[in-house]
Amino acid sequence: MTVLRVFRYTPGNRPAGFVDYELDVPKGATVLDSLFQIKHEIDGSLSFRCSCRSAICGSCAMTINDANRLACKTQVASLGRVVKVEPLTGYSVIKDLVVDMDAFWRQYRSIKPYLMGKPSPPDKEWIQSAEERSVLDEPAKCIMCGACSSSCPVIWTDERYLGPATLLKIWRFVADPRDEGGEERLGMVNNEFGVWRCHTIFRCVDSCPKEINPTVAIENLRRAAVRQSLRRMFGRQ
Ligand code: F3S
Repeated sequence: MTVLRVFRYTPGNRPAGFVDYELDVPKGATVLDSLFQIKHEIDGSLSFRCSCRSAICGSCAMTINDANRLACKTQVASLGRVVKVEPLTGYSVIKDLVVDMDAFWRQYRSIKPYLMGKPSPPDKEWIQSAEERSVLDEPAKCIMCGACSSSCPVIWTDERYLGPATLLKIWRFVADPRDEGGEERLGMVNNEFGVWRCHTIFRCVDSCPKEINPTVAIENLRRAAVRQSLRRMFGRQ
């Protein structure tokens, strides 16, 4: 038998705390499967987010055995007999494993997360070379699950810090030669709530379920921001 130790919280109801559920977990079951097993067989009031069940939508990010992971991608058999499941740290809990990610999405929207194209588009498609596209391979893998930002201690103390997920997204557009918003975007990160607030703690790297390294993006943005400042001060590249 496996014990799923699940964080439970219902506003205005019983006090928050962990509840143990003993489960006969089938071979190959994921943590998300086991949460559904609890919901269907033991307690229908258990709340959690999920959608695609294929590690693409990012909805089921949660803290499992003290690490941020996707519940749909994590096999119960890989975790030992007791599996602790908690909501993502750094966000307030709405109910059980569901957190309020409004602040995360507000920051994401604030950086204009879309291509700002050139004033006159080409007749057909924008052509990109293989090298130009390869720079985007890593940041474009991000599924915006929030696991990295949730693990960053700097955000825990100041939610004005843009955080690794949003900075990675900014780098995705700054690095894209089709995007014309580079100057504006660098202005968004070249301040105390942008790239200079990162203390290179690297928890964001460990917690990414897609194995992306947001600190590389932050470092690239720092270099680009310094170059922009030098250009403005001395008028050179
Ligand atoms: Fe936070 Fe990652 Fe920087 S954990 S401090 S964004 S290296």
